[in-house]
Amino acid sequence: MVPIPTTHKGRNFLRVSDFEADDIKTILEHAQRLKTRQRERIPHRLLEDRTLALIFEKPSTRTRVSFEVGMAQLGGTALDLQQSGLQLGTSESLRDTAMVLSRYVDGIVFRTHDQASLDELALHAEVPVINGLTNVHHPCQALADLMTIKERFDSLDTVHVTFLGDGNNNVCHSLIEACAAMGMSLVVGSPAGYEPAEEIRQNAAATAALTGATIGYVGNPREAAKGADVLYTDVWTSMGKEDETARRRADFALFGLDKAIVDEASERAIVMHCLPAHVGEEVTEDVLYGERSAVWDQAENRLHAQKALLTLIIR
Ligand code: CP
Ligand code: NVA
Repeated sequence: MVPIPTTHKGRNFLRVSDFEADDIKTILEHAQRLKTRQRERIPHRLLEDRTLALIFEKPSTRTRVSFEVGMAQLGGTALDLQQSGLQLGTSESLRDTAMVLSRYVDGIVFRTHDQASLDELALHAEVPVINGLTNVHHPCQALADLMTIKERFDSLDTVHVTFLGDGNNNVCHSLIEACAAMGMSLVVGSPAGYEPAEEIRQNAAATAALTGATIGYVGNPREAAKGADVLYTDVWTSMGKEDETARRRADFALFGLDKAIVDEASERAIVMHCLPAHVGEEVTEDVLYGERSAVWDQAENRLHAQKALLTLIIR
């Protein structure tokens, strides 16, 4: 196996923009090699005796299970620390939790409500901290997204990606940062009031000026979908915003991925969704389970991309 660079040891992964394009390329290449090893059942115990702590303040299937299974396959251990069983949030601060966990474990995955809480934990941790999803970013998802696009099209910078739906959510923000870093073409189609955060847009524009990426924002879903090689969507109502569900269903009504929208895309178009999906809202059943769907590969690639990330940053 090609040696893993040691230059990234100890680094955090709090947002895609923490990493340069070359770092991401290294992760994607390594992830693909690990995927082959896993599929062929070739042992790859690259993190023997290492321990990863998982703290989830919101539900998770993919992120939790892929990190747990990934650590096991790498010869290490993952500890799923149920937040309700920790002192954190009741009688202990993020700072003290970070300092104590750093004495026991070799890395921490944190899924939390506010990016600021993640940044606070990372500030005080002495081991790498990985963002398992916040209100603003979902960088691990973006790694699997890039891996899936590269697998399907054998390149990234010749692929035109369209994200349709809530441009102001974590998955879209991380996709924007990923496409900007890798010099890709991306259009975000979202209704007025659900555009990506200004800071994300500005940073992406600055990155795109260096990488040659083109990142556009439109309010018309058909225009956004036209000619797309990747049609990507996510739920209209992210975790924590459930009280806005009815309003969002109305606001996003024209932004669902159905056959008519898919027909606007390119002939080679694939459909992506980070999951969990709300079938009948942002995606129809025929599209989610149809022949263009890359969704299940995308979910699988969470495992491989995160294993590559772990081997790169854990000491
Ligand atoms: N896509 C994703 O992060 O899924 P989970 O919420 O199940 O982890
Ligand atoms: N935007 C979604 C992603 C879930 C993986 C949410 O935050 O609920």
